[in-house]
Amino acid sequence: MNDLVRTIDLSKRYGRRTVVDRLNLRVPRGAVYGFLGPNGSGKSTTMKMLLSLVQPSAGQVLIGGEPMNRSTRRRHLAHIGSLIESPPGYGHLTGAENMRIVQRLLDVPDRYVKDAVDTVRLGGQMDKRVREYSLGMKQRLGIAMALARRPSLLVLDEPTNGLDPAGIEEIRRLLRSLAADGVTVIVSSHLLGEIDRVATVLGIVSHGGLLFQGTRTELMSASAPDTLLGCSDPPAAARLLFARGTASAREHGLLRVPGLSRQARADVVTLLVREGIGVHEVRQEEQTLEDVFMALTQGGGL
Ligand SMILES: Nc1ncnc2c1ncn2[C@@H]1O[C@H](COP(=O)(O)OP(=O)(O)O)[C@@H](O)[C@H]1O
Ligand SMILES: [Mg+2]
Repeated sequence: MNDLVRTIDLSKRYGRRTVVDRLNLRVPRGAVYGFLGPNGSGKSTTMKMLLSLVQPSAGQVLIGGEPMNRSTRRRHLAHIGSLIESPPGYGHLTGAENMRIVQRLLDVPDRYVKDAVDTVRLGGQMDKRVREYSLGMKQRLGIAMALARRPSLLVLDEPTNGLDPAGIEEIRRLLRSLAADGVTVIVSSHLLGEIDRVATVLGIVSHGGLLFQGTRTELMSASAPDTLLGCSDPPAAARLLFARGTASAREHGLLRVPGLSRQARADVVTLLVREGIGVHEVRQEEQTLEDVFMALTQGGGL
């Protein structure tokens, strides 16, 4: 059983609105699973269903191959740490006092708490009141609370939201160190760039549906970059392509043709040459991962 978490057609409806639509997520053991999608795409709702905080309308969640339900919930949650939406903690108490409350609730030894605090690098800040913490420190304290039980699975909902670049980098560093310790992490964001490089697997959702699941490399290779064509008669070339159902746009004396596969690109060149149009340049324009993500989540498809 290689997947620590799987969801089978997981769905949530509120009234007549479907906000999570038949999701089949696969989170391999030891992965940092980057769960990405625009605001309102159903990420938090999905994560709450993973934690059994929200009941699915249909489908199910499997943890280690076992269904998460009312009777297994306690057992599963004992090894899952989570941080959902805003960071927890009492502002008028110090970091140390907050951690003590968590320790008592979980009934764990001192060294679990100490290790959790060290992992998030808040060791020097524990005597400060939490309301004096920066947002980044609050997020890290929330993660320390989630880590105090020494979970095998950590579910973090938008931990980089609202952080400055240094705070985001701190979270990335933390995710890397957790992964190195063998913790499986599911982390969401509405901004690809905040987590794509630390994520070993990406799941991209939009309007509650899964658009892509796989590695960063797979996502890039699934993209069809634009082709830029330099030829002797661009207007004639554009007409020929249009007649075959291929759209193009003139741009600085070149023709831009979106979304061609290797074969389609070769066919286009053959067609133009056969029709007597000289082709002197064929260039593929690299898409950035951000372009691919935007195209996907804005409904452009790959
Ligand atoms: N308890 C609820 N009742 C009704 N609608 C909800 C509820 N929770 C979330 N939604 C709706 O479900 C959609 C997905 O929300 P959410 O899971 O929070 O998305 P995300 O975390 O990706 O921003 C949103 O349109 C939101 O308004
Ligand atoms: Mg959310």
